[in-house]
Amino acid sequence: MAYFSRITGTGGYLPERVLSNAELETMVNTTDAWIRERTGISQRHIAADDEFTLDLAEAASRRAIEAAGVRTDDIDLIVVATTTADQVFPSTACLLQSRLGIHGCPAFDIQAVCTGFVYALSVADQFMRSGMASKVLVVGAETFSRIIDWTDRNTCVLFGDGAGAVILERDSEPGILSTHLHADGDYASLLQVPKGVSNQLSAVQQGSAFVEMAGSEVFRMAVKTLGRIADETLAANDMRKDQLDWLIPHQANHRIIAATAKKLSMPMEKVVQTVATHGNTSAASIPLALDVAVRDGRIKQGEHVLMEGFGGGFTWGSALIKW
Ligand code: COA
Repeated sequence: MAYFSRITGTGGYLPERVLSNAELETMVNTTDAWIRERTGISQRHIAADDEFTLDLAEAASRRAIEAAGVRTDDIDLIVVATTTADQVFPSTACLLQSRLGIHGCPAFDIQAVCTGFVYALSVADQFMRSGMASKVLVVGAETFSRIIDWTDRNTCVLFGDGAGAVILERDSEPGILSTHLHADGDYASLLQVPKGVSNQLSAVQQGSAFVEMAGSEVFRMAVKTLGRIADETLAANDMRKDQLDWLIPHQANHRIIAATAKKLSMPMEKVVQTVATHGNTSAASIPLALDVAVRDGRIKQGEHVLMEGFGGGFTWGSALIKW
């Protein structure tokens, strides 16, 4: 008996507060026109002072659970992708488990920055394929606003807060056709938060507790790498580009998204884009975009959906799904 996983419910949550480009103009030396032209972003959502990654994760999870129509008691694995956990420990997944009133099932976090959701989905799929889980909650949740230097125009215009979640259920046919994960830590310095827990008092380790990014280098690598992983995914499934119905890329920059779509010869109508209104929500960006496209009815049963992500590490990965 082969076990596969299928996404049976999606959920998303964005904090109420919207930070517009116009407001950013009053904070750093930037313009609405520059941000729109270079990134495609016009606004992003920012968590309230008393709102944390766990709150965002809980709201998105409850919506996914409701959409799937599963009982929380039946969830037998929780995987949360986040770079911005509320606490050093317990993991966000354990805190979320308690909020949802679930007891006993394994729960853990995954840290792969903007590729986090794809990593989490892949790990969850392996649990399903091995028969170790049958109903999984997979979440991408971030409060990136907490690790942004709001005086640095190179980074502060790009990111936002949010959470997205899916429920995976066991099926006799895939759902998730394949996942592909990669990393290369040699590129760590191009996109990083240098200070963490162990090195926070170290004089040897220089750098801030905020996101530092070599924007144009990251841009070039992202375009090259996302093109490669799309080819790898199609080859693994013996599929052609024109058999893809939807591309759901990580939402970092509309120019990166457009370049990836061009390499796949996909018209932009087949690309789900939320970057304009969400900004880059890191691990939350793909499940948030998926939730939008599922709820507005764009994605139909039987269609092929390619998700792909790229982020700090560098990490990159993809998931091909038959909806
Ligand atoms: N407003 C106005 N000017 C800005 C600016 C802002 N918010 N941010 C940077 N600039 C300036 C730079 O200082 C630079 O000025 P200079 O030429 O006088 O030094 C100029 O704009 C061009 O900078 P550059 O980095 O070459 O621009 P770019 O076209 O590469 O766009 C990014 C910058 C950050 C939007 C782009 O590189 C990018 O999106 N990179 C990838 C980011 C990403 O995806 N990160 C996460 C991956 S998960």
